[in-house]
Amino acid sequence: MSENLQKFLKVLEKTESDFSARLAAAQDEPALEALKIEYLGRKGILQSYFSWMSQLDANEKPQLGGALNRIKETIQSRLEERKTAFQRQPAAIESFDPSLPPRLPACGAMHPLLQVLDEIKQIFVGMGFRIEEGPEIESDYYNFEALNIPPYHPSRDMQDTFYLREGLVLRTHTSPVQIRTMENQKPPVRMIAPGRCFRNDTPDATHSPTFHQVEGLCVDRGVSFAELKGVVQAFAQKIFNKDVRVRFRPSFFPFTEPSAEYDFSCIFCKGKGCRVCKNTGWLEISGAGMVDPAVFGFVDYDPTIYSGYAFGMGVERITMLKYQVHDIRIFYENDLRFLQQF
Ligand code: DAH
Repeated sequence: MSENLQKFLKVLEKTESDFSARLAAAQDEPALEALKIEYLGRKGILQSYFSWMSQLDANEKPQLGGALNRIKETIQSRLEERKTAFQRQPAAIESFDPSLPPRLPACGAMHPLLQVLDEIKQIFVGMGFRIEEGPEIESDYYNFEALNIPPYHPSRDMQDTFYLREGLVLRTHTSPVQIRTMENQKPPVRMIAPGRCFRNDTPDATHSPTFHQVEGLCVDRGVSFAELKGVVQAFAQKIFNKDVRVRFRPSFFPFTEPSAEYDFSCIFCKGKGCRVCKNTGWLEISGAGMVDPAVFGFVDYDPTIYSGYAFGMGVERITMLKYQVHDIRIFYENDLRFLQQF
């Protein structure tokens, strides 16, 4: 074989592999059309190779001619093949599979505080309590005065109140719903009042200017402190677990006498002492006590006939313990990475 023929056949090989790469990169029919003109056109690459014939001996010409024809046919058929593939593409859409599950829209869920609040409500409803509500904007009278907290009483400072215009406040606790309920109902009363409260506190890991409480109240003939303890104990065991013990410590609230603060035995270390309970074995929950006769005076209940108990609790506190949330502020940030864990 002459040197020239060898050289020409090499160029043909290279031309074919170049074409393959160009074909693979062609994205649509116009791109195929352009390739066709470039390679097979009258002034195209292959046509130009026919001029090589004159540089070969007569006996080698048929070999180059055959090679040129083969590559021409290859390019032609590969262009055709690709073109039908493009034209067939819409059929791919027709082969849509109706049994595939649909993409679901993002769906919201109950906020963790509301989930726990629901649980709290269910527990108390199960013990015969009704659910009452009161306004978040409250009068000074219901928020303080009728709860036996007179004007200029130091416990008003404790509550860091947001004052609105004359006589109105953002309620600092849900205790005012006690008064509203007793004004509207004669004993026996057994109610809980869940709701949002506000205090002018600087936010930190355990304080927020807005938070939620559940107030409880029971008034009837012969209601005792022992019953209060029993109800709080039953609640503790239902919301956490059967092993939780309850402890009452003497305290003071203007609307209860005697008053107590109640603790649950630490649900993490079972009372042995750990970081969460600061090695005391106990978790402080909230306050409770026997309704002060002075409060009955505001709602015309006769304290010589009726007695009652009241208690409070913080929904955030219980949720934080239940789910080991370490910063109260995260409840109000609407961060989906947090909320989607519930
Ligand atoms: N209102 C109190 C507070 O916000 C909690 C409380 C304490 C409610 C004692 C009560 C109670 O009913 O008897 O801190």
